[in-house]
Amino acid sequence: MIRLRDIAYVRSGVADLDKAVDFATRIVGLELAESSEPGVAHLRADHRHHCLAFVEGQSGVIASGFEVDDDAALAVAETELERSGHHVRRGSREEARSRRVRSFIAFDDPFGNRLELVSQQETVTRPVQFGRTAGIQEFGHVCLDAPDVHDAYRFWSSTFNARVSDWIGDAACLMRIDPVHHKLAVFQGAEPGMCHMNFQVNSIDDVFRNWHYLVDNGVEIIQGPGRHPQSTAIFLYFRGPEDFTYEYSFGVQRIVDEAGWRPRTFDPSERGSIDMWLGPTRRTTTQPQLSQPTPAPTKTGT
Ligand SMILES: [Fe+2]
Repeated sequence: MIRLRDIAYVRSGVADLDKAVDFATRIVGLELAESSEPGVAHLRADHRHHCLAFVEGQSGVIASGFEVDDDAALAVAETELERSGHHVRRGSREEARSRRVRSFIAFDDPFGNRLELVSQQETVTRPVQFGRTAGIQEFGHVCLDAPDVHDAYRFWSSTFNARVSDWIGDAACLMRIDPVHHKLAVFQGAEPGMCHMNFQVNSIDDVFRNWHYLVDNGVEIIQGPGRHPQSTAIFLYFRGPEDFTYEYSFGVQRIVDEAGWRPRTFDPSERGSIDMWLGPTRRTTTQPQLSQPTPAPTKTGT
């Protein structure tokens, strides 16, 4: 069992780096971290050096990163994954530097999503210089696609310390790796990919202020504002460039009685099962997983 300490980052390939960065800073409100790495933009939301990296090149998600305790835990994870049949690749020093981690390993989940386990992700204590005052508090969760969410849960719960918090029928499995209701979700989708990246904001007012700001700036709202009955979070999903779906949310439930929590099942066709406020619901747009044809370490980029 590999213990995931936290989510770390999303790494995404973008054909138009300037446009993606402009949206992430001016619209979403993230900070563009200083970097001397050509073709890579690091975006910051919280104590992490970055939680989102855009890499100029082919459009699509490159990897989702998760932090383990330390280098020793990473080495144990590497062995465990190889023993269970995964092809595991150690990142080079240059690749680790680009991710602002001490070391990392990369492998695919059974559905083709590229995962990276990292040790010692860099912390920055300087206050975040947000691109605008969206009220962002932190990187909240990441959502991946898999053809069968029950198969996905078997993988996540047998390989990692992920526990289901709630099911949305066969459509989604919401999982926690700490008291937060979900830091990881898997949605039903035919192909691997990232269906959204979530940022927690400080208040319900931020959600609604952001909604008006997005509408005023011509951003496509995918869903919300609404309230999920599972996590009780008030949400707003919107589409960025190159099919990257962002979410703001506020008020995610924390599961403090770990032993007493019983996962519930919600029927997605039941009114109010996605949005308690009965607003129109629509599946978020998935950014497809990029295939990783070159296992050999590279100097920069992916
Ligand atoms: Fe979400």
